[in-house]
Amino acid sequence: MNIPFEKASFKDFEDIRGLDPYQQAELFAQYIDNWSSRGHWNYRQESLNGCMPEVGLNLPGKSGKKFVALVFNDYLGFTQHPAVKAAAIAAIERYGVGAAASPAIGGHVSYHKEIEDKIAGFFHRDAAALFTTGYTANSATMQALLKKEDLAILDMGVHASMYEGCQLTNVKTFPHNHMEKLERILKDTKDMYRTRMIIVDGVYSQPADICKLDEVVKLARQYGAYVAMDDAHGVGVIGETGRGVIELYNLYKEVDIITGTFSKTFGHIGGYVVANTELINYLKFQARQHIFSVTATPASACILKSIDLIDEEPQWRTKLWQNINHLKNGLDSLGFDTGNTQSAIIPVMTGDPALNAEACRLLLEAGVYANQIGYPAVPRKSARIRMSIMATHTIEQMDRVLNAWAWVDDKLHITKNEQFNYRKKEKQQQLEQQD
Ligand SMILES: Cc1ncc(COP(=O)(O)O)c(C=O)c1O
Repeated sequence: MNIPFEKASFKDFEDIRGLDPYQQAELFAQYIDNWSSRGHWNYRQESLNGCMPEVGLNLPGKSGKKFVALVFNDYLGFTQHPAVKAAAIAAIERYGVGAAASPAIGGHVSYHKEIEDKIAGFFHRDAAALFTTGYTANSATMQALLKKEDLAILDMGVHASMYEGCQLTNVKTFPHNHMEKLERILKDTKDMYRTRMIIVDGVYSQPADICKLDEVVKLARQYGAYVAMDDAHGVGVIGETGRGVIELYNLYKEVDIITGTFSKTFGHIGGYVVANTELINYLKFQARQHIFSVTATPASACILKSIDLIDEEPQWRTKLWQNINHLKNGLDSLGFDTGNTQSAIIPVMTGDPALNAEACRLLLEAGVYANQIGYPAVPRKSARIRMSIMATHTIEQMDRVLNAWAWVDDKLHITKNEQFNYRKKEKQQQLEQQD
């Protein structure tokens, strides 16, 4: 490995030439020690609470201290909602704690059927299949549908699970949200493949911005391609009634395959795929991770309540957006670069892995628990601190986060460094070009 430990990322230890798995693991352990010695290894922090706006962390010398937590994608706070918890408990009382079989051979229980019907109805569509996680919903679906004769055309910003799902097929990528490049690929690959599937996210988890879905759908129709969209981070957050990016553009019927997760807004765990009845039925028997794996536990019946709450208690979405706007406006006025966020994820760009790690460490010192994001999730020069906002945060907590950032900037001069100013200028130019 040629990269020094301070600049390295997990990815650099994935497959090192000449080292067997134990030797790679040993080198990886040295890398973790190196980062830990500077207080920069802030992954897998042991949280002492559930998804709360403030949590305790098992850190030396920090017992009893509470940190404002900006790491949970529990956007509407439903992991802690009394009615959602009650629904899980009631289902456990009724059905027990496990399903103990895969769906085709015994593991398909009434609550699974109810979740399928409800999530399909939520998107005004016919049918849905459930998966163990959002990750599997994406990877299993694409693996089942796209083979050697097909082409997956991915926005570069889509989640890792979509990339994994496309390992059995041909792949082309286009720069994030770049419609001219997408059109170029569609033109260049005309009549070359059996199926062409454009794969996008609704809200992109790292840039935190929104897909140009209207243009994607238009191009797909023009060039005879299908559209699959994963809106893991948009549902519950975006759209008048929280249906996500599909609602924003009113394209419920035009997106061929809708995928998503129950692990964010819905507050539980699991994934779903929504499409027409025949395609869903096909997936139920052809998606290997569906047919050969046990179904969700009875606690997942709580998802039924979460789905209802999106309509029954819209005040959570209002509150979420108050928090998002307060924090984002505050960071912008402090001079930070928050990228192009249009969602409940707010990044602060630092542009350098070491600076990123130090910012994250100092934030913790100031009582704020946020995530450092680096390569390969984003390019090395796009390193950032990522914050997920919840409806259950208070404005007072958002102000504490802003004070913490001001203090961190006094120490690290993030808003004044060269890389930052360069990025800011670049962003300004992009905006001007769009005008
Ligand atoms: C865009 C996107 N899709 C899918 C997933 C995977 O969802 P899950 O955590 O339910 O496996 C994530 C998780 O972070 C995500 O950000």
